[in-house]
Amino acid sequence: MFYANITGWGKCLPPARLTNHDISQVVDTSDDWITTRTGIRERRISHVSTDMLASTAAMNALDCAGLDAKDIDLVLLATCSPSTLVANTASQVQQTIGAKNAAACDVNAACSGFLYALQNATAQIRTGMIKRAVVIGAERMTWYVNWQRRDSAVLFGDGAGAVVLEASDEPSGLLATKTGCDSEDRDILHIRNFGTNVDKYNAPVGPSDILFEGREVFKRAVNGMTGACDDVLAQAQLKLEDINVLIPHQANLRIIQAIQSKLKLPDDAVMVNIENYGNTSAATIPIALCEALEQGLIKPKANIMSAAFGAGLTWAASYIKWGSRVTPIIQPSHQLTPSDKSGLELITNASKHCI
Ligand code: UT7
Repeated sequence: MFYANITGWGKCLPPARLTNHDISQVVDTSDDWITTRTGIRERRISHVSTDMLASTAAMNALDCAGLDAKDIDLVLLATCSPSTLVANTASQVQQTIGAKNAAACDVNAACSGFLYALQNATAQIRTGMIKRAVVIGAERMTWYVNWQRRDSAVLFGDGAGAVVLEASDEPSGLLATKTGCDSEDRDILHIRNFGTNVDKYNAPVGPSDILFEGREVFKRAVNGMTGACDDVLAQAQLKLEDINVLIPHQANLRIIQAIQSKLKLPDDAVMVNIENYGNTSAATIPIALCEALEQGLIKPKANIMSAAFGAGLTWAASYIKWGSRVTPIIQPSHQLTPSDKSGLELITNASKHCI
């Protein structure tokens, strides 16, 4: 039996920033409300589609691992904002990064998607089906945003993160995991006007929109993620004090703080970057993982817990044993094509089309 060590990590954040003050130019909100209720100060707005964000993060992760894309057997892309549905977006990523020997597949479990994909790729490596995989979380969530709805417009951002998994004898990588779905509550968080359930034959189709019952999602996110963490700790026969770093999904700072307090973890054991990026759905965890490594939060052999919650309602928790290396073999250098537009300029036209 092999392990699936994480040997590469990379991210891609589009350059255009949209601050809380910028959003308050478009919709009735304020920096004070957004910061106090969510912890978000700014988010990134992408000028390119999801596959470019994903490919750039993946190329940085491959450099970090010192691997050639042709050595990859599988590209798994977690996203709920694909560039294209048919053909799948992972096939575009496979082409862009040059992973011509890899299978390519999209995974949609919304904000839990990265941990679902990590579990899937790890299982394939551990059973010997494949040797190397790139697992990506990439989203262009702001493409769905109705900029005239203040409740959802303030929450989301764009970005991507990726990891490279390699078969190894060293006990490392994803060692315990729990995923699940409370489908009875799937309506409390959804995107409307998108998909074949839209009755386009009998009514005009309006703009897409992210709809949710914020307080219900909040409660279920806290309970779902802490329950899943407890389950994973029991599977791994670990105690809370054995966990060195928590990498939670970044949907709301108050959700993260509630989980931190339930798990009784100190501040310096919890990775938080929501203030810079908002909720990038499936991309929050791999971006946060990269930044935890950049900041020296993850040491060799660290015990990492990660947890996510999203539409479906899907949830996931994962125990990751880090390997020996915490620095890239080749420093990340891949970037998006530049854009001279600010975040506000990028969304201004979109906001006029919303009703
Ligand atoms: O992952 C996808 C979606 N994520 C979530 O749903 C995350 C879970 N939920 C949350 O993070 C929080 O519930 C929110 C941040 C979404 C909302 O925070 P809240 O403390 O639950 O606020 P609320 O929805 O109860 O709204 C409180 C007030 C309302 O006004 P009234 O009815 O008290 O007069 C809202 O109309 O805040 C108002 N409000 C806003 N005011 C200024 C809602 N959005 C805004 C806004 N700016 N952007």
